[in-house]
Amino acid sequence: MRALLLENLHPQATAILEASDVAVENHGGAMDEDELIEALDGVELLGIRSKTQLTERVIAASPSLCAVGAFSIGTNQIDLAAAARRGIAAFNAPFSNTRSVVEMAIAEMVSLTRRLPVHNRLMHEGVWNKSADGAHEIRTRTLGIVGYGNIGSQLSVVAEALGMNVIFFDSAEKLALGNATRMPTLESLLQAADIVTLHVDGRAGNQGFFGRAQFEAMKPGALFLNLSRGFIVDVEALREGLESGAIGGAAIDVFPEEPKKKGDPFVSPLQNVPNVILTPHIGGSTEEAQRDIGIFVSTRLRDYVETGSTSLSVNLPNLQLALPQGAHRIAHLHDNIPGVLAAVNRELAEHDVNIEGQLLATRGDLGYVVTDVASGLTDDAVAALGAMPGTVRLRVLS
Ligand SMILES: NC(=O)c1ccc[n+]([C@@H]2O[C@H](COP(=O)([O-])OP(=O)(O)OC[C@H]3O[C@@H](n4cnc5c(N)ncnc54)[C@H](O)[C@@H]3O)[C@@H](O)[C@H]2O)c1
Repeated sequence: MRALLLENLHPQATAILEASDVAVENHGGAMDEDELIEALDGVELLGIRSKTQLTERVIAASPSLCAVGAFSIGTNQIDLAAAARRGIAAFNAPFSNTRSVVEMAIAEMVSLTRRLPVHNRLMHEGVWNKSADGAHEIRTRTLGIVGYGNIGSQLSVVAEALGMNVIFFDSAEKLALGNATRMPTLESLLQAADIVTLHVDGRAGNQGFFGRAQFEAMKPGALFLNLSRGFIVDVEALREGLESGAIGGAAIDVFPEEPKKKGDPFVSPLQNVPNVILTPHIGGSTEEAQRDIGIFVSTRLRDYVETGSTSLSVNLPNLQLALPQGAHRIAHLHDNIPGVLAAVNRELAEHDVNIEGQLLATRGDLGYVVTDVASGLTDDAVAALGAMPGTVRLRVLS
């Protein structure tokens, strides 16, 4: 088994794969389509960050590829549907940087509540303004979390540990952790929160989700944080709220338009507004998160190789699997049409192969049936399964 890891992945990614006898080749930079097609010849596993595009053309030209790891949160760089059609499992790291975002939100809440950006700027200008005016503890303050997913719910736990009252609003049903209170509407949260922090996802419907009406519904002088996605907030409305004093301060990590690369100029209506912290989309950017992403994604790839487990795959039916029970494991990815499971079992029975365990999952157009069998799996039986109509990919693990 060979793996190609691009874009300077954390060394843990290599270590985990090599410990499972995968031959790993590392390449510091990203690759364009033609380079990638050439480099993927005979390679089963690919690891990339966000700069390498795994397009349909590359996928079609790389028949040996069976799994790709996006060592990132997003997976936009992979044509997931094309990968699924060819039976290539794609994995990412959906929560490896959750804690990093949470810690930054906590730091910013404390910082804004104590007006540290204002004091910091004055000190750099040579002004000594020792005063308690407008400075508060976050203890006993009410934190309103909008979006109670991975990050929102983790923030809820840490904020409560610091003595905050936590309320949240999520469009989906969510379990309230600790003493957090679910609010029935966004408006009810905005009316009650001293600090409002956004942690919703980037679905298209969230475009412009938080605008003038929402800022006006907030408590006078409340603080506002956005570490989720830039396009969901009307930053002009936020600037007006900050300048009028209706909003007491803000910490913004994500912007409607972000510079493409390091060093590119950055312009925003929020620049040079008092008690505002601006950061370059670094909420999840810590060395710990990089290490965790390396471990998380390479472990998913390793498990897929060793057990056929597609748990947390973003494009194939999900099956969480332990090591094979029998002599062989047959992992059969197929079109999700009636009769495939019966056909697999018929072929095995006709070839005198005894089934020891079997699991099936489906997702959209695909079905994934994993069968553990006793010894006696012949090449003929494998060939018959591979030739079955609707077979997308067949792997036999021994
Ligand atoms: N700043 C950074 O560096 C950084 C790092 C990681 C993630 N993020 C962003 O943080 C956000 C949250 O990440 P996550 O992993 O917690 O995502 P998640 O998918 O686990 O949680 C998102 C939650 O928001 C809820 N939601 C979506 N739209 C909503 C709406 N209009 N109203 C109320 N609730 C809504 C969903 O039901 C879900 O519970 C994402 O936008 C992600 O891109 C930013």
